[in-house]
Amino acid sequence: MEKTESQKDVLPTSEVFHPGIGSYQQVYRESVENRDDFWSKQAGILDWHKRWDKILDDSNPPFYRWFVNGKLNASYNAVDRHVLHGKRNKAAYIWIAENGDEKIVTYDGLYRRVNNFARALLDLGVKKGDKIIIYLPMILEAPVAMLAAARIGAVFSFVFAGFGAGALADRINDSKAKMIITADGAFRGGKIVELKKIVDEAVEMTSSISTIVVVKRTGIDIQMDEERDVWWHDVTKDSSVYIEPEWMDSNDPLYILYTSGTTGKPKGAVHGNGGYSVWVASTLRWAFDPKEDDRWWCAADIGWVTGHSYIVFAPLFLGLTSIMFEGAITYPAPDRMWEIIERYRVNLLYTSPTAIRTLMRFGEKYPAMHDLSSLRVLGTVGEPINPAAWKWYYEHIGHSNSPIIDTYWQTETGGFMIAPPLGLGLPPLKPGSGTFPMPGVEPVILDEKGHELPEEQKGYIAYKKPWPGMFLTLNNDPERYKKVYFEKYPGLYFCGDYAIKDKDGYYWLLGRSDEVLNVSGHRLGTIEVEDALISSKEVAESAVFGKPDSVKGEVIVAFVVLKEQYQDDGEIVQKLRKRIREDLGPIYVPEEIHIVKTLPKTRSGKIMRRVVKAVALNQLPGDISTLENSASVDEIKEAIQVFSTETGNP
Ligand code: WT7
Repeated sequence: MEKTESQKDVLPTSEVFHPGIGSYQQVYRESVENRDDFWSKQAGILDWHKRWDKILDDSNPPFYRWFVNGKLNASYNAVDRHVLHGKRNKAAYIWIAENGDEKIVTYDGLYRRVNNFARALLDLGVKKGDKIIIYLPMILEAPVAMLAAARIGAVFSFVFAGFGAGALADRINDSKAKMIITADGAFRGGKIVELKKIVDEAVEMTSSISTIVVVKRTGIDIQMDEERDVWWHDVTKDSSVYIEPEWMDSNDPLYILYTSGTTGKPKGAVHGNGGYSVWVASTLRWAFDPKEDDRWWCAADIGWVTGHSYIVFAPLFLGLTSIMFEGAITYPAPDRMWEIIERYRVNLLYTSPTAIRTLMRFGEKYPAMHDLSSLRVLGTVGEPINPAAWKWYYEHIGHSNSPIIDTYWQTETGGFMIAPPLGLGLPPLKPGSGTFPMPGVEPVILDEKGHELPEEQKGYIAYKKPWPGMFLTLNNDPERYKKVYFEKYPGLYFCGDYAIKDKDGYYWLLGRSDEVLNVSGHRLGTIEVEDALISSKEVAESAVFGKPDSVKGEVIVAFVVLKEQYQDDGEIVQKLRKRIREDLGPIYVPEEIHIVKTLPKTRSGKIMRRVVKAVALNQLPGDISTLENSASVDEIKEAIQVFSTETGNP
């Protein structure tokens, strides 16, 4: 078996060894051999209103139910219990605006805001079990809205505020939400994004929304519909209300978060109250070992699962102080991140390999301008980290004395699955490996047919057993839940990633095994881009794939065939880019769009995306015996060649 790029490049153990308390193996063994005792102790990380009757009900696989009949409330665990038990005056969030303004919210302040907005939701007719959409930028109203929904038992679905109107409309339609919480606009990289306008457009394509709550963030002029739209500041006037938390069943839904797959529209992963909450709090403690007086900065956007679990729920459950940053890490200058770390003496930083590679490109002089000595632990998430970026992060940001916690997980898993367990005794690190599974997680590496592969062999990663943080189902589509995740290997959870377990038992995650894209650590579907392209009036056919990129991991490349009556007038590519930006959002805009006359197809007329990709990337296209029109292959080669000559891009 050939070694992967990362495996060839292992740092000597002594250089990176950070001795911990040395109990990882013992804790891990306990978690798999003594599951029920383990989780009944571990669940004490939260306050429960009523204790569960049973740790796990696995009588109806793959619909696993944790902490059966237990009752609790996520907002109670995030705010009330800290206010009651000595953390009333501790900062929950230090919020930093893009323009540098700062707001510090204590646990008491957050508690009051959450109660206040919970009151507003009730007044506006939202009830337990109702679905609401949150479409907000990185402002404090975002966690407040999430926790207020959780408090009254409403199920929220947060839509990343970088998504376009079409993506938002799909999520409204699938969730049948009755309310949207948004802002007039958002500040992003010195510009204003007109969020309310996007919401108005999206709502036109839907029929379930009766109320829109609008936060005034930028002060830009917007349309307010008198019947339907209200201002956040008008509905949250009373500042001393108390709303009794709705005591939720452990397996009642907490939120729905949409994520891309290989087919169809994005699917709504449903997370529950009990198992999910125990999982996120436990995994943050095991992997990062945060201390009471630390400042934790998860630099993701709240709209992705990383933000849900590790800006909102886990750090608040643990009563930590988080940095929450509204802006972009390169604005107004490439030292923004380092400047914030110095100013606020951040202790734990959690970001993505793309962010590291982006900042690395600007050179060491930017981090060197700042005192980063407060940092103790560095984390990454979202995509494989290449050893060069790992080492840069380790040396120039961590000054070779902060471990790198490379966390591997997914929207569906709720929290970390494979990550270095700093809080349980850290093993020697290898740059590019997430090391070992979290307690309770039992990975296997399988071949196509489901046979377990020996060490050092690349295969599909799957999980043998359910874990508390796993999603409950897909919204409105339990059949798809079974089919996508549990059909390939009956009885096992299939992740869609390639991995290797090396001879020391370390796991190396090697990226997606399917046609899902990973751009800057975000999972995007080729199918969504193809749909947006073919719904443009000029486009007949399209094939979209990911091309390796040294900063973003992957960038999107599209090949399109125009309808007969249209031709490439030099403007069409710009039009298509604009269309995708408005429909899906800026991160979906392809780096390259090539117009060709035909695409490789099978005899039955199916576009062979795999062949398009292989030819365009100058790789062997594999089996092309079913290819009907071999001339299309030459055309792709030619388009790529013309593109390289014109742009100077190899
Ligand atoms: C996919 C999940 C987990 C929150 C952010 C992304 C890839 C994630 C790693 C990592 C290698 C990783 C996988 C996974 N991925 N973390 N540390 N090393 N790959 O969540 O959008 O659900 O995407 O991201 O391919 O399946 P997501």
